[in-house]
Amino acid sequence: MTPGPAGQTIRPATPDDLAACAAIWRDSLNDYLGRLAQPEIPDDLGPILRLYGHLRVTDPATFLVAESTARDGTRPDAIDGFAVGLRRDDLWFLSMLFVRPAVQGRGLGRALLAAAAPDPETWTGHRATATDSLQPISNGLYASLGMVPRVPLLRLVGLPERPEAFAPLPAGIEAIGFDEVGDGPAAANAADGLGRAALAAELAALDLDAAGFSRAVDHAFHVTEGRVGFLYRDRDGHAVGYGYTSESGRVGPIAVRDGALLGPVVGHLVRAVRPRGAFGMWVPGTAGEAIVPLLRGGFRIDGYPVLLCWDRPFADLARYVPMSPGLL
Ligand SMILES: CC(C)(COP(=O)(O)OP(=O)(O)OC[C@H]1O[C@@H](n2cnc3c(N)ncnc32)[C@H](O)[C@@H]1OP(=O)(O)O)[C@@H](O)C(=O)NCCC(=O)NCCS
Repeated sequence: MTPGPAGQTIRPATPDDLAACAAIWRDSLNDYLGRLAQPEIPDDLGPILRLYGHLRVTDPATFLVAESTARDGTRPDAIDGFAVGLRRDDLWFLSMLFVRPAVQGRGLGRALLAAAAPDPETWTGHRATATDSLQPISNGLYASLGMVPRVPLLRLVGLPERPEAFAPLPAGIEAIGFDEVGDGPAAANAADGLGRAALAAELAALDLDAAGFSRAVDHAFHVTEGRVGFLYRDRDGHAVGYGYTSESGRVGPIAVRDGALLGPVVGHLVRAVRPRGAFGMWVPGTAGEAIVPLLRGGFRIDGYPVLLCWDRPFADLARYVPMSPGLL
């Protein structure tokens, strides 16, 4: 446990803390977005709570809350803020950092960040995060530590109203659907007898190649969240990419070996299922192969960009589309 600047206790979160974290997430965003006349964050906290549940299991030591103490010093009082750092291979990713509006600007965000981050004396990997472009405090705080805003993530929302805008998958590329990943009995992938362990190995290799890190735990989460995966293979049976889509409209992550395949894969993913509403995805500004056909095909840019920040480059963002700003 670490002391916070106003006597808070910084400690690992328990499942009972997650609802308070989600409330702080929403309140602190609405506090500054409201002042900028931006729309409110909706009050459906289900998806963010499921993400927190996942991250608390994958990274229990760096999902931290700051708990204030009652005035009489005898008992915990309230959660003042929280930070979530993820470790995936040699990437450390700051998924969340939020402080209650009433206690912002007093050093708690910096203290939480230091407690969730790897030891700067010994860490040799990469550090990264994603920020709201509208938020100078977080951008300034992270950049002062070396994680400088480098690439926008554009929020693209819509339906493939003009499907001819997307180039088809090249001849010889087959798309193999799957809805199970990870260890366990070699069974049940939708096509082709591709076992779960073999699929996990292909996904890990594609992730390492395009994103610079592998993340078996997150693939398992995508499918439990109802995303449908596709593995793309060439004529020789080599995996050349993967991507996820879903009826909830969430698309990503996507990784391809050759940037020229990104547009056709995105086009395939937005036509492979029919969403209940619209599709939404976060596309790096460097991934023009996806952005141009999406815009021509009927998608619109929604709201303001998020900024991907890092200290040293780790991903090829012309070949990788993240799942979300919170899970990369
Ligand atoms: C962002 C947030 C987590 C920071 O926590 P906090 O407790 O307010 O921050 P701290 O007081 O520890 O530190 C903020 C730092 O940002 C710096 N900062 C503030 N505005 C800045 C600016 N315009 N440019 C550069 N640096 C700036 C401050 O100087 C301070 O650094 P210091 O420690 O050297 O003084 C918190 O303000 C918050 O939750 N905001 C609303 C939600 C949000 O935007 N979250 C991040 C989404 S990306």
